[in-house]
Amino acid sequence: MSDVGSEQNPVRAAIVGSGPSGFYAMEALIRSEPAVLVDMFERLPSPFGLVRSGVAPDHPKLKKAIGVYQKLAESPEFRFLGNVTVGRDISVEELKNCYHAVVFACGAETDRKLGIPGEDLPGSHAATEFVGWYNGHPDYRDLEFDLSHETAVIIGQGNVAVDICRILAKTVDELKHSDIAKHALEALAESKICNIHMIGRRGPAQAKFTHQELREFGELTECEPVVDPKDLELNEASSEELADRNNRANRKSFEVLQSFAARPTPTRRRRCRFHFLKSPVELAGENRLERVVLARNRLEGKPSQQTARATDELEELACGLLFRSIGYRGVPIPGVPFDQERGVFPNREGRIVDGESAVSGLYATGWIKRGPTGIIGTNRADSVATVESLLEDLPNFGVTEKPGADGLKDFFKSRGVRVLSYEDWQKIDSAEIRRGEAAGKPREKFTRVEEMLSVIDQSE
Ligand SMILES: Cc1cc2nc3c(=O)[nH]c(=O)nc-3n(C[C@H](O)[C@H](O)[C@H](O)COP(=O)(O)OP(=O)(O)OC[C@H]3O[C@@H](n4cnc5c(N)ncnc54)[C@H](O)[C@@H]3O)c2cc1C
Ligand SMILES: NC(=O)c1ccc[n+]([C@@H]2O[C@H](COP(=O)([O-])OP(=O)(O)OC[C@H]3O[C@@H](n4cnc5c(N)ncnc54)[C@H](OP(=O)(O)O)[C@@H]3O)[C@@H](O)[C@H]2O)c1
Repeated sequence: MSDVGSEQNPVRAAIVGSGPSGFYAMEALIRSEPAVLVDMFERLPSPFGLVRSGVAPDHPKLKKAIGVYQKLAESPEFRFLGNVTVGRDISVEELKNCYHAVVFACGAETDRKLGIPGEDLPGSHAATEFVGWYNGHPDYRDLEFDLSHETAVIIGQGNVAVDICRILAKTVDELKHSDIAKHALEALAESKICNIHMIGRRGPAQAKFTHQELREFGELTECEPVVDPKDLELNEASSEELADRNNRANRKSFEVLQSFAARPTPTRRRRCRFHFLKSPVELAGENRLERVVLARNRLEGKPSQQTARATDELEELACGLLFRSIGYRGVPIPGVPFDQERGVFPNREGRIVDGESAVSGLYATGWIKRGPTGIIGTNRADSVATVESLLEDLPNFGVTEKPGADGLKDFFKSRGVRVLSYEDWQKIDSAEIRRGEAAGKPREKFTRVEEMLSVIDQSE
């Protein structure tokens, strides 16, 4: 028998998830010296994770990574198994029987909670839901957002919060040539939202959004940014933070905020107001959200380590719609250790660990490995590092041969799981692009799994 990694006995690797971290792990594996065959499992019929269903529809340039993944998918060492949920359609133990290594690249699919009274009132939503809805993710297709109110509040000051505010702020004309889901465009066309409030718990020197994204608020057709100049008065530690040569990013954002504060009184129909040093302490209303109670915060701590501490000063903001955009969170998969506090799979350099010991053959990459931060490109180095750990472990795999997905055909048939190939996805992809042509959109997404499956049925 030959060693695992030889041409006769290639490493059989399963990747769970087809977002950026999954594709970059696949790339690192097939370009490595040992022979590796990769099967990528994806719970949706469509690949590409948050690049398809997270990245804002009006930012098409940022979706260009998909072209790289499409090229990688042509590799003969790669197979796509779409419409298969690991942990439901196949257990981790069953996967381990067929693969030497399983790399979890399943992202962070749910949201963090604020943990305050009234959080579950109708009208209060998670960013994950709204983002999934306007991007046509099938899980969120049937959600409804009441856009008949005039005021929307967004908690958090990261780039996801920025995306949500911008989508609420734009006109239909500004969105209609993007790949935004049809149902969302129709609902947004009727939107009465004209006051958008983005609430940050820390100050303008600590906001997580990036200046390029922030600057767009000064360029919208119907919406203007509003910043109170008083909010830009910094404490000593914050001034020190901004003066730090390595903190160009926050300095740039601060300059954009200064330019917003210097604008004349807004005259357009919509405005987006940026608040700082405020935290929600309660969402209140009779049977639905009517107002948010905000505590004024002060900053405590050394420069670059300042945290927000609530004071006794409270204010109320009437609103009918609220999104908490305070970070995504990983979801456990049965058979894999889970860090409840951080919402990730606990790991050391990508090797999944249970307490102190590494779990043989299980690896993690991307948001499920390090938590929900970082842009698309961040996942490349992360996946390369995980694959390095996996390849270091190669001697532990011995000489055992594993069948990969060839060993699973009857298994899926007996369970009634309809597994889609990459060619199947390409048919769905072409149909979406065709549907988009008539509307002048890059694509009109199918937003239900059944619709995607029927495209394949019709082509057979
Ligand atoms: C709203 C939003 C907008 C963003 N915009 C940008 C941007 O403009 N530019 C930028 O550079 N970065 C952006 N990012 C960040 C970027 O999207 C992430 O860094 C990246 O997608 C993380 O990659 P990932 O592979 O770890 O996870 P994901 O992209 O989430 O991929 C995970 C995949 O795993 C699949 N999966 C989950 N569970 C299972 C299971 N049990 N079985 C099988 N499959 C499973 C999911 O369906 C999904 O396809 C954005 C993030 C968000 C949330
Ligand atoms: N265009 C793009 O490139 C783009 C677009 C979207 C997303 N992304 C990336 O995707 C990643 C995730 O973005 P994200 O916006 O979800 O996360 P993020 O950048 O981590 O921002 C989270 C925000 O929520 C706040 N927050 C956290 N807990 C809170 C609480 N309990 N109460 C009030 N506020 C709270 C944080 O404040 P503190 O700072 O005080 O913790 C921060 O303002 C980021 O790396 C982002 O850059 C990129």
